[in-house]
Amino acid sequence: MKPTPLPTGIKIPAMLLLCFACIALSGFAQRPQRPSAPSGPWMNSSLSPDERADLVMKEMSVDEKIALLHGVGMPTDDAVTPENGPSNRGVGYTVGVPRLHIPGIDMSDAAYGVRSSGVNGRYSTALPANVAAAASWDTEAAYQYGALIGHELRAQGFNMSLGGGVNLTREPRNGRTFEYLGEDPVLAGTLVARLIQGTQSANVIGDIKHYALNDQESGRNSVNITISKRAARESDLLAFEIGVEQGKPAAVMCSYNRVNGDFACENEWLLNEVLKKDWKFPGFVLSDWGGTHSDVKASAAGLDNEQPGRFFYEKRFKDALDAGKIPQAELDEHVHRILRAMFAAGVIDHPRQRSVIDPFAGFETARKIEEGGIVLLRNEKAVLPLSAAKLHTIAVIGSHSDVGMISGGGSAQVDPIGGNAIKPAGEGPTHWMEEIWFPTSPLKAIQARAPHATVKYDPGTDPAAAASTAKGADVAIVFAYMWASEGMDLKSLSLPHDQDALIAAVAAANPHTIVVLETGNPVTMPWVDKPAAIMEAWFAGSDGANAVGNILFGSVNPSGKLPNTFPKSEADLPHPTITMPPPESSHFDGAATPEKWAMGLPPFQMAYDEGVKVGYKWYDAENKKPLFPFGYGLSYTTYRYSGLQVTPGDKVKVTFTLTNAGAREGSEVAEVYAALPAAAQEPPKRLIGFSKVKLKPGEKQSVTVEVDPKYLSIFDEQKNDWSLLPGDYTIMVGGSSADLPLKATVNLK
Ligand code: BGC
Repeated sequence: MKPTPLPTGIKIPAMLLLCFACIALSGFAQRPQRPSAPSGPWMNSSLSPDERADLVMKEMSVDEKIALLHGVGMPTDDAVTPENGPSNRGVGYTVGVPRLHIPGIDMSDAAYGVRSSGVNGRYSTALPANVAAAASWDTEAAYQYGALIGHELRAQGFNMSLGGGVNLTREPRNGRTFEYLGEDPVLAGTLVARLIQGTQSANVIGDIKHYALNDQESGRNSVNITISKRAARESDLLAFEIGVEQGKPAAVMCSYNRVNGDFACENEWLLNEVLKKDWKFPGFVLSDWGGTHSDVKASAAGLDNEQPGRFFYEKRFKDALDAGKIPQAELDEHVHRILRAMFAAGVIDHPRQRSVIDPFAGFETARKIEEGGIVLLRNEKAVLPLSAAKLHTIAVIGSHSDVGMISGGGSAQVDPIGGNAIKPAGEGPTHWMEEIWFPTSPLKAIQARAPHATVKYDPGTDPAAAASTAKGADVAIVFAYMWASEGMDLKSLSLPHDQDALIAAVAAANPHTIVVLETGNPVTMPWVDKPAAIMEAWFAGSDGANAVGNILFGSVNPSGKLPNTFPKSEADLPHPTITMPPPESSHFDGAATPEKWAMGLPPFQMAYDEGVKVGYKWYDAENKKPLFPFGYGLSYTTYRYSGLQVTPGDKVKVTFTLTNAGAREGSEVAEVYAALPAAAQEPPKRLIGFSKVKLKPGEKQSVTVEVDPKYLSIFDEQKNDWSLLPGDYTIMVGGSSADLPLKATVNLK
């Protein structure tokens, strides 16, 4: 949701001062009230969350129940009122039942860190963008990612995270691609589950979002997505299914768009049938901000909580209840789910209490995750890693790389301490739709690793001038970026601001040119074979420059693999252009009232006819060679795959040997794919598992990946269930979707 302006921010030069600031600002201001001496039979923690919820409900009046069903505005934006007063000034607040010691639900956006904390004078770590965590293919890193967010939320006084974005990269120009976990449901679902487990380990309510098929930002409030149920279940919904099953999030946020005719937040099929019945999700569904469009319909379809306000789920809800249009049992079901989620996540047994964030630990976590997520795309003649002893002159060019690195915008935005790195102190607050640069300087990181070299900086705004800076240098490192944000899609996948020309000019001037990309989305590269090396560093987080420095100079061996295909051209995409909303579907005339909101904007149609063919499945099926394939990434060592064995069983076991055949320690992501029998009529292959394995030089390890039968199944619409077809399955193993040296066929009955 559109935010309050970011603060002017105080310039705090040193980490030490920063730590003092955290102590001073986060510990003592506006301490949330702890409920006094919680009591009542529901405080017996040996009972199940369901039993505890039922016990509380016995004591609650109808008004108290309805108060749990909605927010009370956006505390970030609104004046302090008796209702939102106990909140932590985040983006959403649902009052609790103080009389019964049920705390309010205090929500903050937290995609790659706690949002808007600067408004409150608090500090948050910016992790690398979610897509960078996906590029690590590392389930432990995903857990650490979530745990850091959970602990910082809790330390700031929040008890609910609005993170866990897991929409698939069906539309690679989507402005929120950086907030999501790539194009494959097994990769994205597995990682979001670990992220949620990490977040909820800090006793905060975790959620996953935006359910479902909110795969483009353009016209997100009015677009009607049409897709077959089978294709939806095997693609976008499978990511959520895995996330719900394995991650057990306490909440799911439904999205703005319509799916097959109905808004997602009043969509019987999505909410009641699939999420609550088929997946047995026991938690609560909250609407995206302003995504509720009705009371009776939404309640019957399974929406439990309206955010951030109460157009529908307060007075109108009560009137409908009194008129018998909403049954009492439905109200009780919503309330039960919300209370159950609070007990299950531990927010009642462990009331929030502010504490001091450790920014040093946060920097380290952010740096390590970034190091594991950077993808080395090209490395001709082993130009990387750099050897400091051999370098006399280094040219560092472009993207404000003297002072900072770009971050992703929108409701995911984490505030940099001290404000935007490219603005002089005191220049004023930063704003929604403004590029925010974190004060992590690649120039300084490079100089620190090559202390005897002369490091020259060129802003890269004039390709000819940059080329002349690059010409005499031993190596030229060009930083190129493409900013992205919620609320917009990219006009194209081309680098903006003439950066293609910049890279071409620098690469022509210096044969040792290295391109470091700071993007959340795939980009096209008309210059791809000109520079000696290319790496994708994503939106790199609080300590991104040190991570990039460590990879450039080889103290860390790159191990990231692309979670999204990089196409050669947009003409190769399933939808070469984005369908934009017509003017009448773009915004309301005048203010939005509940009546207008109930109608919604006139829908425009977006047919996902490519169905299950998202990302590499599309390129495979259409025989289109991408620029860089899904799952691809280089290392400073080489790996050998051998000895594949596939054993059928409840879970198919895929065993193989992985050898580090080079001279450096490294971590390899081993990827397992399957081709289904022809009768399945599926794309040529799908990811069914993966494992990231650390190996010393020369070390050999036997790796076993156990495959959930669902990942080998098709979704049978007639049976409304997964179905494993009998027949021959080809199992393929290797280091990229386009390089799978091991193959075996197994017959499954
Ligand atoms: C976004 C959500 C976000 C919410 C609250 C919406 O506009 O789509 O991801 O959690 O706002 O800021």
